[in-house]
Order: sequence, then structure tokens, then C-alpha cells
Amino acid sequence: MATLFTPYELRGMRMPNRILISPMCQYAANEGFATDWHTGYISKVSYGGAGCVMVEVSVVEKRGRGTYGDLGIWDDAHIPGLRALATLIETAGSVPAIQIGHAGRKVSAQRPWEGNGPLGPRDARERGELSWVGVGASSIPVDDRWVPPREATEADIDTFVESFRQGARRAVQAGFKFVELHMAHGYLLNSFLSPIANQRTDAYGGSRENRMRFPLRAAAAVREALGQDIPMSVRLSSVDGLEGGWTLDDSIAFSRELKAIGVDIIDCSSGGITGPATAARVAIPRGPGYQVPFADAIRREVGIPTIAVGLITDPAHAESILNDGKADIIAIGRQALQDPNWPLNAALALGVDAEFNKWPVQHGWWLARRAGIPPAPWPGNT
Ligand SMILES: Cc1cc2nc3c(=O)[nH]c(=O)nc-3n(C[C@H](O)[C@H](O)[C@H](O)COP(=O)(O)O)c2cc1C
Repeated sequence: MATLFTPYELRGMRMPNRILISPMCQYAANEGFATDWHTGYISKVSYGGAGCVMVEVSVVEKRGRGTYGDLGIWDDAHIPGLRALATLIETAGSVPAIQIGHAGRKVSAQRPWEGNGPLGPRDARERGELSWVGVGASSIPVDDRWVPPREATEADIDTFVESFRQGARRAVQAGFKFVELHMAHGYLLNSFLSPIANQRTDAYGGSRENRMRFPLRAAAAVREALGQDIPMSVRLSSVDGLEGGWTLDDSIAFSRELKAIGVDIIDCSSGGITGPATAARVAIPRGPGYQVPFADAIRREVGIPTIAVGLITDPAHAESILNDGKADIIAIGRQALQDPNWPLNAALALGVDAEFNKWPVQHGWWLARRAGIPPAPWPGNT
């Protein structure tokens, strides 16, 4: 039996295996509402055999959209569309999860394939997408192409905390059984943690303790809104990967605080404090499992479960990460875009499902016959 295919439990959640489809923004929403594209995409990955499918970052405020295509959870009107996605995932036998976030100073961006930079006159002309000014920890732009954000006031921070609470409440109402708070990739909460983006001199800036203050308030509000049964994850940029930035030691200290307020698991990503999160120009060298050492260190030092993510594409590699005790869940991102059936194929590759029993029967029956596995004897019909 492969560890990858053993169940995993957290609070009231039971994943049938340790594979999670990583949140991946589709840039396909309309005014925050899920569209047919989401139905198609979520359906594809949900029937692929993962223990959990996490819906892309859904933003808790309209002004917190990264792009005009971001999914929204800022209004109760978004709940029915999100509920349809949660139901789809659950019907396919997977745990429905969702990530909630706010893009902070990285708002008003083009979709990756439309330039991956700040919105400008061409976007307004061609698609009617007008730019707006973001709110960040400090008035420091993402880089020199971007408009500086407005520095968040204390009143903004109180509003953000409430928006995260309401976002979490809507996620529960929509039927999600696992909720992740996005604190990575340079977005709002990350911009408060990192000394590169946060140069405030009030109670929310300066010392690490001060920089953690608002993210911890947001996490506590989400924790409260989720109730006892629903597990909560936080996605961290474990390191900025830049001189003078947030470090792994900071992530370890911060994870201790998150654990104390009831966060159940840390999703260990990295980078993105400057430039687009998808930038090729990255500070952290990328190779298979490049972020696993972060999941390992946080898990060991803090005694909290972790999710490993980032260029994990080989089932045997995923299995070894779990067996070496470096993480508790494996998140699959882009490889699931290439092969939405990655988990089912991993079960074949690891020899735990030679007879295609994990596949939806409508497909598995045929694939087993094609592989030369005889059908079960006719049970009779009396
Ligand atoms: C199209 C796309 C959209 C993404 N959207 C999100 C997102 O909504 N939230 C997030 O935390 N990470 C997002 N990511 C990052 C992935 O979740 C994942 O961490 C990253 O792609 C690395 O894993 P991989 O090598 O398995 O793809 C996105 C990545 C891609 C390719």
C-alpha cells in the first residue's frame, strides 16, 4: 500500500488519499462569478482521483481582485456558483476546498497571457478593463512598472479582517469542507509579513511581531468563522528568496503562532513578493520538489502538518516525500493541467490499483478490459 493512497483526516475532514489539487486561478470569472469554464475545469480535476480539490483563490473584497477574471467571495450572491463547484467536487468523491485571499498591492493586473503586468490604456481600450489603485502594507509598488499602492490605514486593516471573516463564512455556506487563507505570493497578507513590502512604523510594521499582527488577526477571524469541524490551512511564501526579506526562520516562528490560534496545516510555497507570482524571473531556483525543504522544516520545527507543493510530478517522488516524513499532503498544480487524471495514473504507477478500480466505473470498466483483466463472472439475474 502506498502512503500517497492512505486516507488523511483533519478535524471533520477525511481525504480518501493524500493528493490535493493546488489552487489555480483560471482568470475566467465574470464579476467574481464562476463560469462554465470553472464547471468544466473543476469537473475534469475532480474526477481525476485526488483526495481534495482546492478551488482557486477567491477574493474577499472587490478591490482585492488581482485581475478582472478572479473568482469572488465578497458577496453572498457568489455563494450559489461556488456551491455548485463544491457539490461537483464532492459528487466526484473528493473533498471540496477553497482558498480565500486579497491581492493587496498586486491588484489591477493583466491576466498572465495578456501581459502579466499592471493594467494600462490598451487593456482599457481593448477589453474595457480600467485600472485601480491597490492597498498595501506600505506605499511601495510591486516593481517599477507598477503604480504605488495606498498605504493601508488602521481602518482598512479592521475592514480587511472583517472581509476575511465574511469570506470564510461564505465558504462554509457554499459547502466547502476545507478552507485555506492565502498569505503567499506577495498578496495583501504576505505584503504585511515581508519587510520588503512592509515599512510601516505603527503597530503593524517594524518588528516581526508587529508585521505578523494583521495576518494573525485575519487568521483568527477565519478560524472563528469556520467553526470546529472545518480544517484551516494557511499558504505561506516560506521565504521571499531576496536579500533583507522574509526567511524560513520567520516562517517557523509565524507557523508557531498560527498553530496556537488553531490553524491546522501549513501549505508551503515561496516567493512572489516582487513581480508577478508567475514570473519566470524568480529568486528561488526551481527544480523537482524545490519547496519540500520548507514543508519539512516547518513540520519538524513546529510540529504542525504541512502541504508540499512545487514541481512534484513523479508519483514515486510524491510517495517518498510522505514516507520521509517531510509533508502530510502533496499538492499537484500544473501537472494536473497536463494530466487531470494524475492521481488515478499515480495509483496505477505505484501498483495500488492494477485493476482500475479507483477510476469512475464508466471509464475504468473499459480500461481494465483493454488491459486484459477479465470481467467479474456474471452474477446471474434472478
Ligand atoms: C494557472 C495557475 C494559477 C495559479 N493560481 C494560484 C492561486 O489561485 N493561489 C495560489 O496560492 N497559487 C496559485 N498558483 C500556484 C500553484 O498553486 C502552485 O503552487 C504552483 O503552480 C507550483 O506547483 P506546480 O509546480 O505543481 O505547478 C497558480 C499556478 C498556476 C499555474
